[in-house]
Amino acid sequence: MSAAQLHAATAVAPQAGDVLSIENLRVSYGSRFNAVPAVRNATFSVARDEVFGLVGESGSGKSTLSMAILRLLPAQAHCEADRMRLGDTDLMAAGPAALRQLRWTRLSYIPQGSMGVLNPVMRVREQFLDTIADHTQGAQRREIEGRIETVLAGVNLRPAVLDQFPHELSGGMKQRVCIALAILLEPELIIADEPTSALDVVSQRQVLETLSSARRRIGASMIMIGHDMALQAQLADRIGIMFAGRFVEIGPTRAIFEAPRHPYTQRLIGAIPSIRRRQDIGELARRGLEHADGATASAHPDLPLREVSAGHFAAIEL
Ligand SMILES: Nc1ncnc2c1ncn2[C@@H]1O[C@H](COP(=O)(O)OP(=O)(O)OP(=O)(O)O)[C@@H](O)[C@H]1O
Ligand SMILES: [Mg+2]
Repeated sequence: MSAAQLHAATAVAPQAGDVLSIENLRVSYGSRFNAVPAVRNATFSVARDEVFGLVGESGSGKSTLSMAILRLLPAQAHCEADRMRLGDTDLMAAGPAALRQLRWTRLSYIPQGSMGVLNPVMRVREQFLDTIADHTQGAQRREIEGRIETVLAGVNLRPAVLDQFPHELSGGMKQRVCIALAILLEPELIIADEPTSALDVVSQRQVLETLSSARRRIGASMIMIGHDMALQAQLADRIGIMFAGRFVEIGPTRAIFEAPRHPYTQRLIGAIPSIRRRQDIGELARRGLEHADGATASAHPDLPLREVSAGHFAAIEL
């Protein structure tokens, strides 16, 4: 049994050895007196070497959750958690210097579109050297600098891209550069927020396959945000489904697809066989299914997650 399967068979609460463990994470935007909640009491964890797929309608809080983990929320956000740990490190207690140090080395991020990470006025080589210089010293620095071309080859990029500026690369190439940066220092956890949503369907699949094999090679865990349920089925070990800022279902991928329990998940999964084209599945998730059947999808808005079968939790009445 792999670490991920073992984890799936246990519980939604943190387990020893989890790469990431979060209890009751709450994020709201706005002032203290006029706060709009975006993530409500999120409790979940990610095991070593596990791919955790994160799905949910637009505005359900997926990016906010990612930014909270990265501690990169904007100033108007208010974030609290009973626990948020990366391995043994308390992310809520870590100061700015500690957080800067662990980004890229222990925790990396692939954003939707790549420009947030890539500096438009720097050649790709400089971006790699900068990231390395900020986080390594001496022999280790030289060793990693010597590996840049190998890491690029691992994401199907030729060394020539090192001498180019981001605007000289296609969208897919930029995403590959971001993936190479995200895996370069072999972090424990990669957060990929819709890493391919800006690409055409063919590039999407290629880039995701590249990301997934690169992740496997370094043994990192990954939170993979994406609307495409077919791809999630293929790549994720477990899936968490968010609706209106809450997790409404978390479980092993197989259980989620074979026996979805929350009405929102059921509609998400139920829609797949009747829809031929991949884009349509993505579009359906993007729009949110509450528009299709508001009464059903929001029938149990505030119930806590309960275990419905081994490692499978849903916010439903039992
Ligand atoms: N900087 C911000 N200031 C105020 N409200 C915000 C901010 N960012 C997000 N929100 C709000 O928080 C909620 C969650 O947004 P978030 O971006 O996390 O959703 P998402 O699940 O990532 O959606 P999408 O699938 O469209 O990317 C939404 O209601 C959104 O309007
Ligand atoms: Mg988002």
